[in-house]
Amino acid sequence: MADFFKVTTRDALPPGGKALAEVDGRPIAVFNVDGTFYAIDDVCTHDGGPLAEGELEGVEVRCPRHGARFDVRTGKALCMPAFEPVTSHAVEVHGDDIYVALND
Ligand code: FES
Repeated sequence: MADFFKVTTRDALPPGGKALAEVDGRPIAVFNVDGTFYAIDDVCTHDGGPLAEGELEGVEVRCPRHGARFDVRTGKALCMPAFEPVTSHAVEVHGDDIYVALND
């Protein structure tokens, strides 16, 4: 079973919020969608754009570089210019703390 690493807290990541974390040397974007937390790779599969800097609308994040959108729940690419999904990761919440386990 993968190890969970603390990435942030509920207080630091309110609904609609985004955060960039590093888990085991890997950049991970963490999102709060109406109180549920999701984590995906921070690297857009089109050309490496930083997804944690993208606009979050509902469950979709828009890459700030060329506008590809991804479903933060699954990592699925929703529109061009990205075709490949980003990897999504497991999230657990314990008290105020949010943990992510890498899913390779
Ligand atoms: S790098 Fe993300 S859409 Fe191009």
